[in-house]
Amino acid sequence: MRPLEYKDGILKLIDQTKLPSEYKVVDCATYMEVADAIRDMIVRGAPAIGVSAAYGVAIGALSARDGSKEEFFCELDEICNVLRGTRPTAVNLFWAIDRVYRKALDNRDRSVSEIKDIIAQEACNMDCEDVETNKAIGMHGNKLIKNNYTILTHCNAGALATCDYGTALSVMRMAHSEGKNIRVIADETRPYLQGARLTAWELKQDGIPVTLICDNMAGHFMKLGKIDCVIVGADRIAVNGDTANKIGTYSVAVLAKENNIPFYVAAPVSTIDFSMQTGDSIPIEERSREEVTHIKGIPVAPEGIDVMNPAFDVTPSRYITAIITEKGIAYPPFEKNLKDME
Ligand code: MRU
Repeated sequence: MRPLEYKDGILKLIDQTKLPSEYKVVDCATYMEVADAIRDMIVRGAPAIGVSAAYGVAIGALSARDGSKEEFFCELDEICNVLRGTRPTAVNLFWAIDRVYRKALDNRDRSVSEIKDIIAQEACNMDCEDVETNKAIGMHGNKLIKNNYTILTHCNAGALATCDYGTALSVMRMAHSEGKNIRVIADETRPYLQGARLTAWELKQDGIPVTLICDNMAGHFMKLGKIDCVIVGADRIAVNGDTANKIGTYSVAVLAKENNIPFYVAAPVSTIDFSMQTGDSIPIEERSREEVTHIKGIPVAPEGIDVMNPAFDVTPSRYITAIITEKGIAYPPFEKNLKDME
């Protein structure tokens, strides 16, 4: 299942705000529409927003005004800046924009029309690479999964969050396709309900056994011995292994440690921010108060109540058993073992 598809200057996105009650595809024909789709979470998940942003740069570049090369690069800067301003936490967004921009710069001796094609081609390359990366994450992670495992996950690190397969969910897909009897426990993931709306939907489509729980039930099931391991995705991993992921991940990690349950992070190397030494400097997105006070437009809290809505938290690396990447599984000490993957 692919949440995004690019053809002839149009980026088609499955509208993830509508799932699972409605399956709708949105067309983005301008880079501004791509930026809005990322900001409004029509497309979400670190790898998916990265590749969408790369396509956004390509779409913007294609419609750049005819002019000199200097004017073209000025416009390209503006397009990249708009896309960079959409969501602050997932490093894949910045990584992807920087990669296509660098590709354009490396080819600045070519004609503007050639540079436009090169940008579009680079975005397509990143799309294909992401699919292969996720398959490799699934292959490596599968080694950690035994028959009859029950795996808890938080948020959606599935096909919908990437260009296909997912990161955490790729591990589950691989184990299931190998004939291992596994069950996934999906945290609903308040306030945006990525677990209930997206992970549960995605796994059900694939016939992978999945049980939905409210976020506050995870500790209960861990204490009862019902969870064998936790696998989550990541939005940004610091050099020391500290990991930003969907709000609530930290609580799950602490509960897992208390109950001696392995806690794994599955993410591509592009999610590691090699410029950030610890998770303390990872910017945390604050989203709208309505995500907390309303569910599907219906108020669930008193009008005017004070609200805090950080979209992510940072799990210190001491809670993380291992980080599963396309290049293999990194164990502590992460400073050394993640660096080897650069
Ligand atoms: O706010 P979202 O839905 O974009 O957050 C997504 C997550 O936190 C995912 O776990 C993360 O991006 C990894 S996706 C493979």
